[in-house]
Amino acid sequence: MLIDSYARVVDYLRVSVTERCNFRCQYCMPEKPFSWVPKENLLSFEELFEFMKVAIDEGIKKIRITGGEPLLREDLDKFIKMIYDYEPTIDLAMTTNAFLLKGTAQRLKDAGLKRINVSIDTLKPEVAQAIAGKDVLKNVLEGVEEAVKVGLKVKANMVPMKNMNADEIVDVLEYCKVRGISVRFIEYMENSYAKKEIQGLKSPELLAILREHYSFEDEGFDGSSPSHYYKMEDGYRFGIIEPYADDFCKKCNRIRLTAEGQLIPCLYFDEAMSIAESIKRGDIKGAALVLKEVVRTKPEKNRWGGEDNEISKRAFYETGG
Ligand code: 5AD
Ligand code: SF4
Repeated sequence: MLIDSYARVVDYLRVSVTERCNFRCQYCMPEKPFSWVPKENLLSFEELFEFMKVAIDEGIKKIRITGGEPLLREDLDKFIKMIYDYEPTIDLAMTTNAFLLKGTAQRLKDAGLKRINVSIDTLKPEVAQAIAGKDVLKNVLEGVEEAVKVGLKVKANMVPMKNMNADEIVDVLEYCKVRGISVRFIEYMENSYAKKEIQGLKSPELLAILREHYSFEDEGFDGSSPSHYYKMEDGYRFGIIEPYADDFCKKCNRIRLTAEGQLIPCLYFDEAMSIAESIKRGDIKGAALVLKEVVRTKPEKNRWGGEDNEISKRAFYETGG
């Protein structure tokens, strides 16, 4: 079992398979980065899988494939199947922008993927264009429908932003509700790569808007999920992710791996240790030691909302948020 210095059990690994993305979301990667990680620095799926085995053997129970946009990497279903065949009980999930999902959802499901999280920030084509930098809405919604059809469990993420999509909170919730998709509203997390002008809505503002339309009960946190859940009278649950809240990090159970093998203990901070060399040498013990060290050095909490209101300098597109 992996336990950090604050007695938190770490059993969730997020694996970025590429930092590249076909979107340029305002809150993540509004401009193409100055340079991408050279392709030869990426770990192959075989190498990544070697580390997945180490992580699973050490106590990881949930693996989420992220990016950039993970579906840009060819043969992703084969990587998913490798993990599934090694340990079918792993909770295997993926975060995607859904643009390429229509043609791939069935294959991913057949390979062993159980769940996906997709971004649904808007239902208006022109707003989607403004947020993602291109005309994406039709493909995204078709991808979402396909995922539901093939039986993947789907959650949606919306980042509500003033003068952008804040007027669509109820519409996005309704879109999700009729399709059995749980929606989570994510407070915009300031980072030095995002568009400077963004003003995200904070949880109290979101709740005030939702209360004008619905009545719901506060259900609190659900296990290690970072999401604060609310239950409406008809049983539908939506979540709010509040990284600025004091207790956001209390039950954090996750670490992150970048596509070049950097293991990152916390979403907010830049600090990381590489497993690439150990894995390339076939040094399983060495990789396990790095994993344990990264867990040991996991910080207690992020610095959003702290006294200096510092901005994270870590690129979210390296680890899919
Ligand atoms: N603030 C909040 N959420 C973000 N995401 C990416 N960048 C940010 C940010 N700066 C979330 C989006 C997307 C997921 C990959 O990460 O909701 O769906
Ligand atoms: Fe948008 Fe996700 Fe791509 Fe970032 S990685 S630009 S959030 S689609």
